[in-house]
Amino acid sequence: MERHTDRLIYLDNAATTAVKPREVEEAVAEAIGSGRMGNADRGGLGSSLDASRTVYRTREAAASLFGCPWPEQTVFTANSTESLNIAIQGMLEPGDHVITTVMEHNSVLRPLHRMEDLGVRLTVLPLKPEGGWQIPAEEFEQAVCPDTKMIVCTHASNLTGDMVDVEAVGRICRRHGLLFVLDASQTAGVFDIDMEKMGIDVVCFTGHKSLMGPQGTGGLCVRKEVEIRPLLEGGTGIRTYDRRQPDRMPTALEAGTLNSHGLAGLLAALQWRKSQGKKVMEKELSLAARFYQGVRDLPGVTVYGNFENSLRAPIVTLNLYDYDSGAVGEELFLRFGIQTRTGGHCAPLYHLALGTEKQGAVRFSFSYYNTEEEADLAAAAVKTLAEEG
Ligand code: ALA
Repeated sequence: MERHTDRLIYLDNAATTAVKPREVEEAVAEAIGSGRMGNADRGGLGSSLDASRTVYRTREAAASLFGCPWPEQTVFTANSTESLNIAIQGMLEPGDHVITTVMEHNSVLRPLHRMEDLGVRLTVLPLKPEGGWQIPAEEFEQAVCPDTKMIVCTHASNLTGDMVDVEAVGRICRRHGLLFVLDASQTAGVFDIDMEKMGIDVVCFTGHKSLMGPQGTGGLCVRKEVEIRPLLEGGTGIRTYDRRQPDRMPTALEAGTLNSHGLAGLLAALQWRKSQGKKVMEKELSLAARFYQGVRDLPGVTVYGNFENSLRAPIVTLNLYDYDSGAVGEELFLRFGIQTRTGGHCAPLYHLALGTEKQGAVRFSFSYYNTEEEADLAAAAVKTLAEEG
C-alpha cells in the first residue's frame, strides 16, 4: 500500500521523543558549533575546563531532578540499558537473591539472566488478575528471603504504562536492608522521583525519552554509601599510574570520553523541564486519557493495562480483533500518518502474561508536544479500522 498522507502524527514517544524543546536543539548546536567543548575532566585548561563545567552542571541538574543530594554520585552513560547493566552486574554476586517483576524490559531481564547463569537466584513477581493485573506491594515483601540482596523494577511499564508503587517498594527495601534499583526509563521527567523520600538506592534513566534530551545520553544516580563495581575500565583523566580503575565517584563508573555535546543538550532539557513544572505530566496524561476515552469501547479493541489506577505513564496499548499488530500499525501509518510502535516491545514476560506474544500490540505513547487534535485523529483512525472489521 502507498502512503496516503503527508502528515505525520508521531505517537512513539515511549521509544524516543522525536520533537525536543528548541533549547535542547540550540544547546547541542552551540556545544558543537562554538568549538569550546573540549574533553571533560581531561585537563584544567580552556575548552577542557568548559566541557567539565557543562558536565558538572548537568550532574547537578540531574541529581536535583531525582532528589539525589550528591551530584558526584550522578554518573553519565549512553542510555538506561547501560545504566541498568552497570547497576545489576556491578552489585550482584553469585549466591545473591534478587526480586523483579514480569513487567520488566529486556534491559533489566537480560542482565539479570546473565547474573542467573553466574549463580544469582531470581524471583519474578507475576501480575495478579484480581485487582486489575497489578503487582501489589505486599508481593515484593512476601518474596524477600534471607539471601535477598536487591529489588530491581521498572517505575512504569514501557508496554502498557502501568506503574509500580515505588514508595511502597522503597519502604520494603529499607525495612529489609535491600538495595532498590529503579528503572525510570519511562517516567523520568514526567513523574516526581525522589531517591531520598522513596528509599531508592540507584535510579537508572535515559535522556532521550520523556526527559526530552538527545539520544546517547543517560545515567544513574547512586546513593552515597552504595558501591558498584565498574563494568568498564579505562581512561579517566585521574590517577594515570593506578593499575585499576579509580574508585572515586563519578569517575569509577565513567571510563572513556563522555558525550559532552549530548550532555549539553541534556542540561538544556533538564532546565526546560524544571521551568515547566507539573505542566509536562498534566499535558501528557491528559492526552493519553483523551485517546483512551476515544478507543476504550470500540468494537474489536482490547486495551491492555489498568486504567483504574490513577498513576500511569502516558501510554495506551491495544490490539484490534486478532489482527497482527504490525499490520495494524502499518495501516495506521500508511493511511492516517500515525506512527506507533508495534510487535514485541522488549518486554517478553509481560507479553506472555497478556497472551500477546504472537500478536504483539500497538502502542500509542504521548509527549508534551502532541496535541489534542492528534489524540482525536488517532482515536478516529482506530475507530475507522475497528468499524471496517
Ligand atoms: N524501550 C524503548 C521502547 O519501549 C525503545 O520502545
